[in-house]
Parts: sequence; structure tokens; C-alpha cells
Amino acid sequence: MNHSEILLLRHRIELADSLAKHPEWAQCLGFVPTMGALHQGHLALAERAARENKAVVVSVFVNPTQFNNPQDLALYPHTLDQDIKLLATLLPLGTPIWVYAPNAEDLYDQTVVARNFDFQGVDAVFEGADRPGHFNGVGTVVSLLWKAVPAQRVYFGEKDYQQLCVVQALKRMENHDLEIVPCPIVRESNGLAMSSRNERLTTAQRERAAWIYQTLQEVARQGSASAPNRLRPDELRNLVAKKAQEAPDFQIAYFDIVEEGGVNRVDHWSAGARYRALIAVEFHGVRLIDNIAL
Ligand code: PAJ
Repeated sequence: MNHSEILLLRHRIELADSLAKHPEWAQCLGFVPTMGALHQGHLALAERAARENKAVVVSVFVNPTQFNNPQDLALYPHTLDQDIKLLATLLPLGTPIWVYAPNAEDLYDQTVVARNFDFQGVDAVFEGADRPGHFNGVGTVVSLLWKAVPAQRVYFGEKDYQQLCVVQALKRMENHDLEIVPCPIVRESNGLAMSSRNERLTTAQRERAAWIYQTLQEVARQGSASAPNRLRPDELRNLVAKKAQEAPDFQIAYFDIVEEGGVNRVDHWSAGARYRALIAVEFHGVRLIDNIAL
């Protein structure tokens, strides 16, 4: 087979038929779900998948049911040709990469609506509180994608930490037999977490947005278990509130410390436990999220 090209599949049936021709991949297929507008963050997931599997499917689908803000959906970039070119830079690794880019009717079977999940509160806070229905949309589409792409390993970025918690819950609830592989956050050279939303900022604003990661680094310095005078979670919250007062171009949507693996906010440290700081800001009309392990 010629591995020099990315195969583009538009329909679920077509994907199933094409995969059926490769029984040798059946136990070692990697899957990277995306909404396209791919950048180096997505590419790192695809690269890891290509290194760890016999073949990789990358889905490119801007899922309407996870957008609570119609304007956000309307502004979402569609760049399939560029996405395929970027993925093609991984082909020298020798792993076949297929792109599954369906339309909504193909993936959803006509009725494009979100299901209602009981994520046991994981979806009630942070992104879920600020974007009602968002995680029901994510859960719905990820469940459909997992049925369409019979992969053994699925790659998600820690950039969307809460989304990772939600898909872990989905896996348990629906008994999916697959491994969820969390991948580290890829950053621009100034520390800003890569995101398709960064495209909406000017060059100067992108430089300025490094403030978010600088703030998280300060939190990690002062809040890590090895810090000489470790600040308590409430002191870290005050620290960020104070820094935000000095940076009025950033409106903090939330900042908090949670125990690693979930979204339970904490008020004191427990020995041996691991923590993560989560932040979302509104910056020149663009919502940016980031997080850091303490
Ligand atoms: P999207 O925002 O396109 O992200 C696709 C995957 O890339 C997610 O797992 C996300 O966490 C990861 N990613 C994005 N930016 C990253 C970065 N800077 N570093 C590391 N990983 C990064 O997340 C979604 O799409 C959708 O909600 C989806 C799961 C596809 C369901 O529609």
C-alpha cells in the first residue's frame, strides 16, 4: 500500500469498509478526535498516535452540539486542506493516517441533538458552568465517534483537562473498551497554550496572552509541595485575583485548584495527593483556557 498520502473519508460506511480491508490494524488502531483547524498541539497527539499504533484515524468535525454560543460556532475555522497537509508531515513515520471528516447527518444519523448525560457533576463546574450543555455535546459526539472508529487507543490533550475527565466518565458509563491517552499541553514559544482561538488575536495580543501561563507558573512555584513557604489554595486564589487586578485586559472566568483526576476544588493540601490549577480568561473577546500541574 502507498503510504505517501492521507486518505480522506467522508462517510461512516466508507470508513468501516476501508478499515475492514485492513484486519492487521484491528488490534492496534489509534484515534485522534479533533474539530480541525489543526496546529502543533493537535499534531503532537497525531504524532504520538502514529508512533504507538499500526494506523491512525484523525477525525475532523466541528461538532455543532457542543457550542452553546452560535457566534463561536459561526467563527470556527474550517481548513480541511491545510489540516491534511499538516498531517501529511507525519507520513515519513511510516504509519498510515486517515482523516474522517463527516458531515453532521452522517455522524449523527439525521437528528443532530445532544444526549443528556449524568456525568456525576463533572460537567457542572468550570467550563460546564460557563458553557451550559457543552459537555453533553462533547459526550454525544465522542460516543458517536468511538462507535465509528473502532480504535484501541484514543488521544486527548491535557489542554482541555475537564474534557479529559468527562471522556473518562463516558468511557466508564458506556463500557468502551479503549485506552484514553492524555497528552501534555503544547505551547507557543512564549508559553501561551496553542489553540485555534489564538488565531483571533493580533500578534501583539498573542504576546500579551503569555500572561496566562506566567500566572500559572507563579501559582505552580508558590503552590507546589516543594515550595519553601507553600501557599494554601485560598492564598493562591488571592494571588491570582491580585495579579488580575493589575492586568485589567484579562477577565478571569474562573481560577481554582482541583485534585488531579477530577474537578473537586480543594481548600487544603493532603499529603501525597496531586493537584492541578485551572484557569479560564476572557481576553479581547476571546475565551482562553489553560492549566498546570502543581
Ligand atoms: P479540538 O479543540 O480540536 O481539540 C482536539 C484535541 O486536541 C483535544 O483532545 C484537545 O485537548 C487537543 N489539544 C488542543 N490544543 C492542544 C494543545 N495546545 N496541546 C495539547 N493538546 C491540545 O477538543 C475538541 O476538539 C473537541 O471537543 C472534540 C474532543 C474533538 C469533540 O468534538
